[in-house]
Parts: sequence; C-alpha cells; structure tokens
Amino acid sequence: MAKQGSLGLGSFPSTRLRRNRVDDFSRRLISENVLSAHDFIWPIFVIDGDNKREAVSSMPGVDRLSIDMMIDAVGEAADLDIPAVAVFPSTDLALKTPGAEESFNPENLVCRAVRALKKNHPDMGIVCDVALDPFNSDGHDGLVKDGVILNDETVEVLCKQSIVQAQAGCDIIAPSDMMDGRIGVIRKALDDKGFTSVRIMSYAAKYASAFYGPFRDAVGSGVALHGDKKTYQMDPANSDEALRETALDIAEGADMVMVKPGMPYLDIVSRIKETFGVPTFAYQVSGEYAMLKAAAENGWLDNDKVILESLMAFKRAGADGILTYLAPEAARLLNGE
Ligand code: PBG
Repeated sequence: MAKQGSLGLGSFPSTRLRRNRVDDFSRRLISENVLSAHDFIWPIFVIDGDNKREAVSSMPGVDRLSIDMMIDAVGEAADLDIPAVAVFPSTDLALKTPGAEESFNPENLVCRAVRALKKNHPDMGIVCDVALDPFNSDGHDGLVKDGVILNDETVEVLCKQSIVQAQAGCDIIAPSDMMDGRIGVIRKALDDKGFTSVRIMSYAAKYASAFYGPFRDAVGSGVALHGDKKTYQMDPANSDEALRETALDIAEGADMVMVKPGMPYLDIVSRIKETFGVPTFAYQVSGEYAMLKAAAENGWLDNDKVILESLMAFKRAGADGILTYLAPEAARLLNGE
C-alpha cells in the first residue's frame, strides 16, 4: 500500500486526529501515560528539636520539620500511597567541619530521622542522599584541599556515610556527589557489610544548575559554599556525556539512575531511558518548585493544573518516577481530593 501522509498513517480528510479528542471517554482511552502517587518520591527536610516546623521562605508550602513532626507528615504520605521519601538534614553550622565527620556519625540527624521513620512506618521506602555538602564547612559535596575538590578521598568518606545510613535503616542510598567511581566503591562497601539488598539510586546525570538555590537555603549549605560545583557536576551544554555517566554508574552497580534537575533536562531523561532501559528517575528540584509556586501564588498560573502537567511531562519523557516536593499535593489531586 502506498504510504499516505508523511508518517504513512493516513491523511486529511479521511484522517482527523481531533475525532479521538471529541469526548472525555475517548481522550481517556487513548491517553498514553498515567501519573499516579506510586510515581513519587517525596523529599523532606529534617531539623533538630521537638515539635518544630520552620517554613523555607524560597519554597512556599515546604517546611523543615523536627523528627516527631516528620513522622506525622510521612504517615500522611503513606496514606496517600506515596512509596518513598528522601530525607535531607538541615545540619547545625557548628557541626560542619572540613572533614565532614558528622556525615558518618551514626547519631547524626539523618540517621536518627531514618531510625524513627523506619520504626513508625516500616513499609515506607527511605532514600538518603550521599554527599558531604550538609556536613562540610566548605559547602561542597566533596572534601576540599587548596581549592580542589578531592575525588578518591571523598569517595572513602561517602562509603562511611552510606554504611551508617544503611545501618540506620535506609533502603535506597542516593549518591548525589558526582565523584568519579563512587557507585562501584559504595556498592562494594555495602555488600561487604551485608547490605546486599540496599539499593543504589545514582544521581547519574546531575548538572551544575542554578535551580538548586532554594534547596541550599533549606539545608543551609548555600551559606558555606564558595564558588560553584562545576568541577564535578555536569555542564548544562552536554548530553552525550550524560550517557557516559549513566553507563558507568550502571556498570558499577546502580539499581536506578536519576537525572537532575528535571523539567529543563527532559531530553536527558528520554535519551537515558531509551538507551539503557533501566529504572530512570527525574528530580523536579527546588527551583522548579519555586517557579511554579511563585507563579501560582501570583495568580499567573493555575496551581493544580500546572503541577499535574509538570509531573506528567516526566512520565512522557520516560521517567519511572519523580522526586518532587509536590508529591503529597499532587497525590491528593490525583485522588480527586
Ligand atoms: C546535595 C544535593 C543538592 C540537591 C540534592 N542533593 C544540591 C546541590 O547539589 O547543591 C538539590 C535538590 C533541589 O534543588 O531540590 N548534593
């Protein structure tokens, strides 16, 4: 049969693509992607203290919570069928050192939070970031010597950090540091300690992005940070390099890979998913959240519609899941609440 039309799929007027869009029922039947609460990982910020809740000014609607308050919030997330949360500590400035020793203190805030969460919500998946920036007086993800971010020395500390987090009950270790070779070394360290079922979600393609600004306010890593993270995080101009980063992380034992930021990097999500076919995640980061909320608060965008559209975009690009501060709000909307 002769091909008709540019795609060989018919042509106007026998083919009218609007026909399937006429009614809600047929729009639902032909929809190619589905967004659900099962797609979400909810990042949460934890602070020391009791009964404490502090608003993050650059992220309207997001609070830093003390462990007791966090347990309640995570209970609500569990009721909404959200499978996992990612715990980020806002560490006291006094605990930050050049060696980032607090990162592998089994009694540090994140470990205490993970233990409390596992005790109260054993079925909730717990993700922990692995990087030194919350604990490092230099604000960098790695150890710094004479202005240089050390790679192999940092990886040793990341292993110790991973172990204390796994001991606390973390299910998914998520290295966000972008040091070379860290996935393989962390995998071996976990296996050697018997944590063979602890998963690794690598921040495989993490870009040196200005969209992390509000997060650095939330965890207080921005104050300490001098300079930028361009010697370890990726150049936003690069795409093939993201495939190499991802290939290495998979070869080293990553169970899941992640792209970060999210919406400005959907092309990367799509290429990674198509190339490797592995569980692929995207992080809708703090700056993306701030943009959406700022516009919605001003009445410039319809909050409910735009957040669901922004999340559906990740599914369309091929993401299996999304780390998003919008998780509970979006889950409620999807439930029709
Ligand atoms: C730390 C880390 C960052 C984010 C997640 N883990 C910040 C950074 O790399 O400076 C950003 C998350 C967000 O912006 O929501 N390594």
